[in-house]
Amino acid sequence: MIVLPKAIEKTNFSIEEVIALRRSIREYLNKPLQLKDLAQILWAAQGITEPSLGLRSAPSAGATYPLEVYILSKNVENLKKGIYKYLPFYHALKVIREGDYSYDLYQACLYQDWVLNAAANIIITAIYERTTYRYGTRGIRYVHMEAGHVGQNIYLQATALKVGTVAIGAFYDEEVESIIQASHQEKVIYIFPLGYRK
Ligand SMILES: Cc1cc2nc3c(=O)[nH]c(=O)nc-3n(C[C@H](O)[C@H](O)[C@H](O)COP(=O)(O)O)c2cc1C
Repeated sequence: MIVLPKAIEKTNFSIEEVIALRRSIREYLNKPLQLKDLAQILWAAQGITEPSLGLRSAPSAGATYPLEVYILSKNVENLKKGIYKYLPFYHALKVIREGDYSYDLYQACLYQDWVLNAAANIIITAIYERTTYRYGTRGIRYVHMEAGHVGQNIYLQATALKVGTVAIGAFYDEEVESIIQASHQEKVIYIFPLGYRK
């Protein structure tokens, strides 16, 4: 387990500024992503913000938390190339597999250059049963709504750190699931490349 730098609670930007500045960014500097910036973005995505109740940065229908967050690291300071899973309760990363899988993800994402050129990619999967167990088939839409909340948190936090990102919805599900070694219940739903803005 790799314990991440603690998240901060302030940047120099106001919430209004990051909403106004947010844009999908598809070109990045060829510069390592600092681990503290990656950690901050992961915290914004799924960090624990109310430890006594286990509540997180993004809302979740019935607090069922169906989403899992993975990282494909290619050029992150003090982090080997590889696939990692974010562990919200520990604010840490668990190693899934080491190695450079950026080209595999690029292929699985229909050769979108920004996936290959990013310093890292966030991959969000869902275990639908956590939510459909309680809400039936309506839970499916709740899971997608929640992924949207997480995605917006990633966009806004990245903007405040001068990190570029773009929501990626176009990819071959099974290929991405195989790259991250997802469990059979897990379905990939969203990808966010990360890299410093030009
Ligand atoms: C659900 C969803 C899927 C998307 N998929 C892709 C994608 O696969 N590749 C891509 O380059 N941009 C993708 N985008 C980004 C949109 O193209 C972008 O948000 C839109 O052009 C508006 O630009 P803005 O985000 O800068 O406001 C996606 C956005 C959303 C919300």
